[in-house]
Amino acid sequence: MNLSDFLPDLVTRIAQLRRDLHAHPELAFQETRTAGLVAEYLSRLGLEVFTGIAKTGVVARLKAGTGAQAIGLRADMDALPLPELNTFPHRSRHEGRMHACGHDGHTAMLLGAAEALVRLRDQGAFDGTVYFIFQPAEEHEGGGRVMVEEGLFERFPMQQVFGLHNWPGLPAGSIAVIEGPVMAGADRFEIVITARGAHAAMPHQGTDAILAGAALVQALQSLVSRATDPLDSAVVSVTRFHGGHADNILPEEVRLGGTVRSFRPELQDALEEGMARIVAGIAAAHHVRAELHYSRGYPPTLNATEPAFLCREVARQVVGSEKVFTHLKPSMGAEDFSYLARVVPGCYVWLGNGSGEGGCMLHSPHYDFNDEIIETGIRYWVRLVEKALPARG
Ligand code: NI
Repeated sequence: MNLSDFLPDLVTRIAQLRRDLHAHPELAFQETRTAGLVAEYLSRLGLEVFTGIAKTGVVARLKAGTGAQAIGLRADMDALPLPELNTFPHRSRHEGRMHACGHDGHTAMLLGAAEALVRLRDQGAFDGTVYFIFQPAEEHEGGGRVMVEEGLFERFPMQQVFGLHNWPGLPAGSIAVIEGPVMAGADRFEIVITARGAHAAMPHQGTDAILAGAALVQALQSLVSRATDPLDSAVVSVTRFHGGHADNILPEEVRLGGTVRSFRPELQDALEEGMARIVAGIAAAHHVRAELHYSRGYPPTLNATEPAFLCREVARQVVGSEKVFTHLKPSMGAEDFSYLARVVPGCYVWLGNGSGEGGCMLHSPHYDFNDEIIETGIRYWVRLVEKALPARG
């Protein structure tokens, strides 16, 4: 029996499961129903299942033959705090929560791949160990980081790790494999400027937090335009500027905040240092006090050369060269698969979600995962395992 014999039936069941997950979205670290369903599915397949990693995370182990190589396949399980505007029968049953990023599809496809691989193992299709990693809290909370901190790679040693995300706008069932940076690192900052407030008609009697803030917004842009290699990419966006409450009073305090994006850890360091320098300099120039609170978010997601090469080959075999994109620009969005891929060489690919119904962008209240790409997703995972852990003989 080969994959094509049982795949149609498997895809039908996985699509039903996907819609059930869509109807019952759960937020970061609260994915108890989802994790329960995942663990039960994997147990029924006869896999060794480990639960409670990063609260709701689940890992399952599938061993074939005697091979010492091991790889990890990762799916995310969480939904978003967003009211769903779709009206189809599988719309969210939970007010204010929604699977608007397709993690329902990622979870379902990886379960389908696990089932397929269990069946194929008995025919000697691969040799080695596959870890199925179902992580909580991809959205903002960094469930991937928590899994790593709780010993994911010590408990389950593996040489490579792989991720996949559906991508609206790319043709349904196409696959994008980008070597090197694929998603940005995302940091946050807040700057609190404290001045000596004054009557607006007598500014010389105080100091001006608004003017200092305005100067700061301008000066921060020089981090990208002057302090960053023109062939590197970075974004500094000031997205908040709060201060003042009357036309005739210069306020005591102004607060600014925003985000910093880049693709290289070294550049992340340089941007943070540069921001501190500019904040201190502008504060001195305007006789105000300025405090910078800079917090590191998700690191850049970097696809390592060898796994990216493997994924490209696999994608070509599964969907054909004309549906594999290798030269797309990376995204300035962020992804916590980066926490896994910075420990173990990895590759994270985009699976085209199409542009039809539900093809609207991720995090839209009208979004839906496209069930027509489930088959491609399962085929991709299965072929990847066969290529990464080749059967002997
Ligand atoms: Ni997502």
